[in-house]
Amino acid sequence: MWQSTRRRGSVAPAMIVLGIETSCDETAAAVVTGERRILSDLVLSQLDEHRPYGGIVPEIAARSHLEHIDALVADAMQRAGVGFAGLSGVAATAGPGLIGGIFVGVMTGKAIAAARGLPFLAINHLEGHALTVRLTDELDFPYLLLLVSGGHCQLLAVEGVGRYRHLGGTIDDAIGECFDKTAKLLGLGYPGGPEVEQAARHGDPARFELPRPMLGREALDFSFSGLKTAVRHRAAAAGALGAGAQAQLTRDMAASFQAAVGDVLADRCRRALDRFQEDTGRRGPLVVAGGVAANAYLRARLAEAAGERGAAMIAPPARLCTDNAAMIAWAGIERLRAGLTDPLDFAPRPRWPLEHVRGPAAPEDAPAARLAEGGS
Ligand code: KG4
Ligand code: ZN
Repeated sequence: MWQSTRRRGSVAPAMIVLGIETSCDETAAAVVTGERRILSDLVLSQLDEHRPYGGIVPEIAARSHLEHIDALVADAMQRAGVGFAGLSGVAATAGPGLIGGIFVGVMTGKAIAAARGLPFLAINHLEGHALTVRLTDELDFPYLLLLVSGGHCQLLAVEGVGRYRHLGGTIDDAIGECFDKTAKLLGLGYPGGPEVEQAARHGDPARFELPRPMLGREALDFSFSGLKTAVRHRAAAAGALGAGAQAQLTRDMAASFQAAVGDVLADRCRRALDRFQEDTGRRGPLVVAGGVAANAYLRARLAEAAGERGAAMIAPPARLCTDNAAMIAWAGIERLRAGLTDPLDFAPRPRWPLEHVRGPAAPEDAPAARLAEGGS
C-alpha cells in the first residue's frame, strides 16, 4: 500500500523503509516513513536466554535471531499495514557487533530486497543511534554527538549523513560495559545500566569517593577502567557486611558510581561544546544517544552541562536510545534520500568505526537524492 503525499502539484509516493536490527541481543524489526512516522517498532529481547550466563553468548544470540527474525518481520509489516510492494527499501544493521547475528539480519534484508527488487541499505548500527534525533526531533545538521552504548563512548561532530568527525573517545572501557560490570560487582542483574540507575535512586552519591578519570584534560578522551577498579576494591572490602548494610552499600555505591560518571561526562561535554563552537561557530546542540542515554540522571546532568554553555541537550525518548529497528529504518531513509544504497554482496563488518561510514561523494549527489524521494 502506497501512502501518497502531494508535492509541487504532483502525487509522489511517500518513502517507507523496513528496518532490521540483529547486531546484539535484541531481534528487532520496524517500519518507518520519510515523514518521520513509526508505523511499527518491534523489539524481541533475548535477555532471558542470556541471563544465566551473566552476559551475552554470541552463539545463543545468533541462533535466537535466526529462529525469530522471519516472524518478527512479518509481524512488523502487518502492524504497519504495509505490503512488501509498498516499501521503498530494506535496511539492515551490517555492523559493528556480533557477526553471527549481523549475518542473520543482513541475509534477511537482502533476501527481501532481492525478491522484491528493492534497494538494500547496509546500516552501521552507530549511525542508527547517531541519526535517531532527526527522526524524533527533526534536528538539522550539524550537531555534537555523545554516543554512549554497551560497546562505545565517543564524541563526534555530526555534519551530515555519512559525515561523522571523531573528536574523542574512550581509551579503555565503553561506558555501558562499565555500568554492566559495576552491576555485576554489586550483585545486581543484567543488563546493568537500568539496575544501577534504579539502585542509585535511593543511594548516597557522596558516601564513596571514586576517581573522575580525565577530568579537566584538554583532549576529548575518556577512561573508565580506573573507576571500575575502584568500585571493585570498595565492593570487595564490604564483603563481610550483614544483609541490611550490604543493601545500603549497594545503593550508595551505585549512586557514587553514577555521580562520578556524571561528572566525567559533563566535563567532557562542556569541553567538546567549546571545541564545537570554535569549529562551527555554533553553541551545540549536544545530542546524547545510545543505550546509556536512557539514564535519566545522566540526561539531567548533561542537560545542565549544555545549559552552562548556552546549548540545548537533546536525547531521543529512552526506548529509542536502547537498541531498536526504528533507528535502522530511519538511517535507511536518510541514506536512500542521499542515494547511498548498497549492493547485495555487501559484506557484514564486525568492526566498523562510524567515521568510516560512506557518505555522499560530492554535492552532485543531490539529484540522486531527489530521485530516490520520488521525483519531487
Ligand atoms: O545501545 P545499546 O542498547 O546496545 C549497544 O549498542 O551496545 O546499549 C546497551 C548498553 C548496556 O551496557 C546497558 O547497560 C546500557 O546501555 N544501558 C544503560 C541504561 N539502559 C541501558 N546504562 C545506564 N543507564 C540506563 N538506564
Ligand atoms: Zn546500540
